[in-house]
Amino acid sequence: MELPFAESWKIKMVEPIRKSTREEREQWIKEAHYNVFQLRAEHVYIDLLTDSGTGSMSDRQWAGMMLGDESYAGASSFFNLKNMISRLTGFDYVIPTHQGRAAENVLFSYLVKEGDIVPGNSHFDTTKGHIEGRKAIAWDVTIDEAKDTQLEVPFKGNLDPKKLEKVLAEHADKIPFIIVTVTNNTAGGQPVSMKNIKEVRAIADKYGKRVLFDSARFAENAYFIKTREEGYQDKTIKEIVKEMFDNADGMTMSAKKDAIVNMGGFIATRHQDWFEGAKGFCVQFEGYLTYGGMNGRDMNALAIGLDENTEFDNLETRIKQVEYLAKRLDEFGIPYQRPAGGHALFIDAPKVLTHVPKEEFPAQTLTVELYLEAGIRGCEIGYILADRDPVTRENRFGGLDLLRLAIPRRVYTNNHMDVIAVALKNVYDRREQITRGFQITWEAPLMRHFTVQLERAK
Ligand SMILES: Cc1ncc(COP(=O)(O)O)c(C=O)c1O
Repeated sequence: MELPFAESWKIKMVEPIRKSTREEREQWIKEAHYNVFQLRAEHVYIDLLTDSGTGSMSDRQWAGMMLGDESYAGASSFFNLKNMISRLTGFDYVIPTHQGRAAENVLFSYLVKEGDIVPGNSHFDTTKGHIEGRKAIAWDVTIDEAKDTQLEVPFKGNLDPKKLEKVLAEHADKIPFIIVTVTNNTAGGQPVSMKNIKEVRAIADKYGKRVLFDSARFAENAYFIKTREEGYQDKTIKEIVKEMFDNADGMTMSAKKDAIVNMGGFIATRHQDWFEGAKGFCVQFEGYLTYGGMNGRDMNALAIGLDENTEFDNLETRIKQVEYLAKRLDEFGIPYQRPAGGHALFIDAPKVLTHVPKEEFPAQTLTVELYLEAGIRGCEIGYILADRDPVTRENRFGGLDLLRLAIPRRVYTNNHMDVIAVALKNVYDRREQITRGFQITWEAPLMRHFTVQLERAK
């Protein structure tokens, strides 16, 4: 008999979590203005708010923490990090930052000007925020298939070459660079194929443009290339990663995802002019160039995390857990963005809560219902997160409205996945009775989902 699949690690340290009663949760979510970001973590039983900075580091990473060099300038920990990044990507210029959005802030301060257009595949919200905050336009060129959650295509994160070519042909002078987000978080943790990466490179070359990878989940993307794209089965993850970055000019990285650290990020590039242009902003916003907002010990852990998580076994364990949860949801007929993404499952809320009008935010309503059901905290990736149109100030209802269940790396077991699946089934079973959603009582002008306040729609 073939042996079943099991994790490529064993557990060395545990942290208790606590269940609560429905009455307690009713009270807590009301006090949080029905925004799960405002809940206290101790009031959450299973936390799927994000996979960002919430993973469990390895024993080697913790050992690296003890060896951190905390020198202000020229710390060996910086060179450990720089060497690892250069080895994996081929990029020689590295600027550490405290997290991914800081990398965007530093680099975009140099690259993005008012009136610019930055095409890309479903820009992540902070990326969009850093573009729109500079009065530039984040121009989405994701393939249309990504909008149909029930369509099974292997690389649903791809950029549409026709859309990309059109915007370049019409606005080339306004475009400072192209962004490729690997994997495409907003479209459901969906990967971008190597073929697509190469197509984008060719189009960029035709118009003399550079390509920036938003790389938070580059290793998961490489896993999907290995397992889904012809010609890559026999390559190692590290070989695939190198081939991906051979087609890019630079990267911003939120290391809190695929490097499995609690905090960290960086910019890396092959171009001296990008490095020279950005480095002053690093000193201004983050810190000196060899720490950029990170401790020496954090840079050591990050270097080791990058090395470990570009190995197949680690990625297989991670992605198989997401697939496991997907299979459980399939048993109950719960609709999610198909196929299962790399770091999360994205439930198609308007397909579940068919009676809740879009103006009352179905995905936010489902998020609250799941919390009330079992103390599970997911996250709305939908109409609230989409913010208002910067010109008309209308809500943007054009995209998907999803409840994201992000799975932290190496944190929960498949027993927890079973609890999540059954809790969601219970909500699904009573979906016909859920007819009203929420209305906004307060919101910030940009990136409102973190702080938005809501009340039940009347
Ligand atoms: C694709 C992508 N880019 C950028 C970021 C921003 O990174 P950070 O949260 O480290 O600032 C994230 C965070 O979730 C992300 O998923």
